[in-house]
Amino acid sequence: MATLLDGPVMRSGSGSWLVDIEGNRYLDCVAGPGVHLLGHGHPAVISAIERQASELIHSSFQLNEPVIELAEELARLAGGSFQRVFFANSGSEAIETAVKLAKKFQAARGRFGHSIAALENGYHGRSGIALALTGMNIYKTGLPGFSLYPGIVHLPVPRPGEVDLDELGRQLDARSQDDLLAVVAEPVLGVGGVIVPPDGFLRALRELCDARGALLIFDEIFTGLGRTGTTFAFERSGVRPDILVIGKPLGAGLPVGAVLTPDDLGSCWAPVDHSTTFGGNGALVGAVGKAVLGELTAGGLADASERAGNQLMGALRSAAPTDVEVRGQGLLIGLEWRSPDQATAFRRRMMARGVLVGIGGQQRSVVRLTPPLNITSDDLKLLESTTLAVFDEMVRR
Ligand SMILES: Cc1ncc(COP(=O)(O)O)c(C=O)c1O
Repeated sequence: MATLLDGPVMRSGSGSWLVDIEGNRYLDCVAGPGVHLLGHGHPAVISAIERQASELIHSSFQLNEPVIELAEELARLAGGSFQRVFFANSGSEAIETAVKLAKKFQAARGRFGHSIAALENGYHGRSGIALALTGMNIYKTGLPGFSLYPGIVHLPVPRPGEVDLDELGRQLDARSQDDLLAVVAEPVLGVGGVIVPPDGFLRALRELCDARGALLIFDEIFTGLGRTGTTFAFERSGVRPDILVIGKPLGAGLPVGAVLTPDDLGSCWAPVDHSTTFGGNGALVGAVGKAVLGELTAGGLADASERAGNQLMGALRSAAPTDVEVRGQGLLIGLEWRSPDQATAFRRRMMARGVLVGIGGQQRSVVRLTPPLNITSDDLKLLESTTLAVFDEMVRR
């Protein structure tokens, strides 16, 4: 099987830096992508792993303290309405869980439709339902069944200043195949090209869901835990989802996903309705998750992300070539080029100067900058100066 990955083979990491097997150092502005909020080799993560590994790694079908405490801390951070947490092994699996739960909850109320709406350019993972929800055809090539998965439809994200609730409602109703059960959305679309929906869009989704008795599910697997400058990206809009899904950074590199729900939703399924061998009882993941949340709050990393993101975006906007759009929230930043070739060339040139960046978007023309949230000011300056130097090279080419 061909591998997706090329380039250097990494041996070690420390802070925002990776070192390959030949000793070359790279400023890691992919960070996972979006996994390493705390950078590599953070002492709090290492000591949580060492401490917990010597005590208990996993206790399948028996609760353990780290998992209970992590669930409590997540529910506290996400605000009052979430009392239940289900842990999964990945973001994709957490999304599948959230949709299954939504269907079960709706069926218990006599709602047996299939329709679930997601967003064009949204990304929710590569497994069955998660891939079907993903609104990026690039990941479905040769898999026509996935785009036709029963009941899953996609809504466009309106362009800036264009939120028209009635029009969105018409589109939703026209596309839904039957009773709408849920809407799944990223508050900021990450993999799909760092698309920040216009003000009022999340509120419109909330209103559309409420009017149709549908559940609103926010996928904050990429945006959650400080990445966009608030602990959760939904906070900026004031719109709360019925189900919140997180993942990526929670495990600092250990696989994890989590589904947060209010009591009435979480209690609609019995223990036999859903389970996974590793997801719910990983004491090790629980301990690491607690360490990540501890550093996130004690270190004020959401605010740090907001400040660093504004500073970096300001500098990049004033120097970007005219055909490059700089956009984002906090340290989730996208540079949209006219073509995928330009984005790839930009990434190669950044790498040649020792800075790793990601690429995304439906056309693969959006370069993504997602450094650790605790990136030092020197490393942030290096990211900025390297980006400006490569902008310059690209213009003179
Ligand atoms: C918003 C979002 N949802 C879901 C996923 C899938 O998570 P995982 O790769 O852990 O399955 C991702 C991964 O990039 C993501 O960014």
